[in-house]
Amino acid sequence: MVLPIVAYGSPILKKEAEEIDESYEGLNQLIEDMFETMYEASGVGLAAPQIDKSVRLFIVDASPFAEVEEGEEPDPMAKGLENFKKVFINPIIEEETGEEWAFAEGCLSIPKIREEVMRKPKIKISYYDQQWKFHEEEYDGYAARIIQHEYDHIEGILFTDHLSPLKRTILKKKLANISKGEVDAPYRMKFPNLSKKR
Ligand code: NI
Repeated sequence: MVLPIVAYGSPILKKEAEEIDESYEGLNQLIEDMFETMYEASGVGLAAPQIDKSVRLFIVDASPFAEVEEGEEPDPMAKGLENFKKVFINPIIEEETGEEWAFAEGCLSIPKIREEVMRKPKIKISYYDQQWKFHEEEYDGYAARIIQHEYDHIEGILFTDHLSPLKRTILKKKLANISKGEVDAPYRMKFPNLSKKR
């Protein structure tokens, strides 16, 4: 089932999400719904708070990054992403290393805005998968970037929180409009400050 995506300005997006355990009810259905919702919105990552569940769970499918147009060189940053589809439960980013780099991020909760965000290129993350198997893995390139963005969501952080005060001031009006539902998103959303006028 495709779920509505919670828009910028919703308190749940600013909240630190809670860990879950194996007794969490409806986990498989929730994960299935999240993938369906993410694909419907053409996203490469989705965190549970974005569908109004304040739990430490996010999904990624970065395979669109690995698609190579005819006549184009494969992007070295997208190496190994052909099958990069994963579920992260109770993840912990153990380590972030390297020289920060800029990448224009977007977010399904903040439609039509993309801004460059600085982050370190390499991460070490531990997490449980959908079968509750524990993993500790290292990522770099786009994979690390997507994970860092989604991980922020379960910590109550949005990519706009990483921008300079000046950039945020410039975006203020647009962001307020998004929270009021005054944005043309190509998928279903839930707006915190929906304006009464129609
Ligand atoms: Ni996001």
